[in-house]
Amino acid sequence: MTPGVPPRHVACIMDGNGRWAQHRGLERTHGHMAARAALEAAVDGALEHEVEWLTLFAFSTENWSRPEEEVSFLVRFLAQHVIGRGARSMHERGVRLRLLGRTDPRVPAEVLDRLREAEELTRDNSTLQLSLAFNYGGRQDLCEAARSLLLQEVPAAEITDENLARHMLLPELPDVDLLLRTGGEHRLSNFLLWHCAYAELVFLDVLWPDFRTVHLRHAVELYQQRQRRFGTVGRTDAADAAAPTVAGTAAAPPDAAPPAVEATAPAIGTGLVPSLAPSALLSLPTSIASHLGATLWDGLRETARSTLHRLTGEPTGPGRDNQSS
Ligand code: IPE
Ligand code: IPE
Ligand code: MG
Repeated sequence: MTPGVPPRHVACIMDGNGRWAQHRGLERTHGHMAARAALEAAVDGALEHEVEWLTLFAFSTENWSRPEEEVSFLVRFLAQHVIGRGARSMHERGVRLRLLGRTDPRVPAEVLDRLREAEELTRDNSTLQLSLAFNYGGRQDLCEAARSLLLQEVPAAEITDENLARHMLLPELPDVDLLLRTGGEHRLSNFLLWHCAYAELVFLDVLWPDFRTVHLRHAVELYQQRQRRFGTVGRTDAADAAAPTVAGTAAAPPDAAPPAVEATAPAIGTGLVPSLAPSALLSLPTSIASHLGATLWDGLRETARSTLHRLTGEPTGPGRDNQSS
């Protein structure tokens, strides 16, 4: 496909470890252990796509309510395997690792020490900013910011988007462009509520331990087919004729100059309507041309599916992954 602008900030809800293990008749903790390869794949994929920020949800403020053995396993496993062994390899690849979450007396001191060591080791790296959300909750992040504003006696008139963001746990964390959740659930589970205001959402059925770079590539491709409007009406027909949009290329606030973009061919089987505006091509009234364009597209897609079926004999229904925006 024609590449669009990659997402600057990808956030990922790494879900499905428990089910992965249960499907194999294993303890849930085996699913968490198997998740390490997926985490490495996410980092590799982010580096491959030149993503600047990658935020991974490892443990939510609500996850403390899980059985004690699972919680204690998760906390120690993070320090011993994910950070301890992985930190050096991340450092060598220019990854800056940071913890995103509140400190908590339930996190043992040696675990915190390991995390801080990894942060220190990688602090000057700039290829990829990796934030590991551990003991993180979006609501708590917002409450902390409000509390901090109050403590600093910031006048009400000075409470703006920018000012509030400066009081959050990681003030530099930019808005999320692509929010990806594995495991088939379609919810945010209290993750980055503030930063996801205009994120493109991609939900994949793959369980997190099976996640590999190919899944990230797929999510980025879906992202690049979206049209981001940020509350505007999008491009006019005339603008469409001049420069058809793809989603990733419109990642700018409404008052920014529209970026130069390339057209993209939507992938067969993604269930997405092409972002080309047919009215611009056919010089018809928008409502008629849009309908006609969608009908033509459906026909083309069906023809492609049945041709593929005849050639390969394999079923060619829509993919398992669900997407919504
Ligand atoms: C995500 O997988 C890991 C954490 C929340 C720590 P889960 O453990 O939630 O796996 P499922 O959703 O039960 O399969
Ligand atoms: C979200 O997953 C938290 C992490 C992936 C760390 P959960 O499995 O805890 O979310 P719910 O409970 O299904 O919403
Ligand atoms: Mg889960």
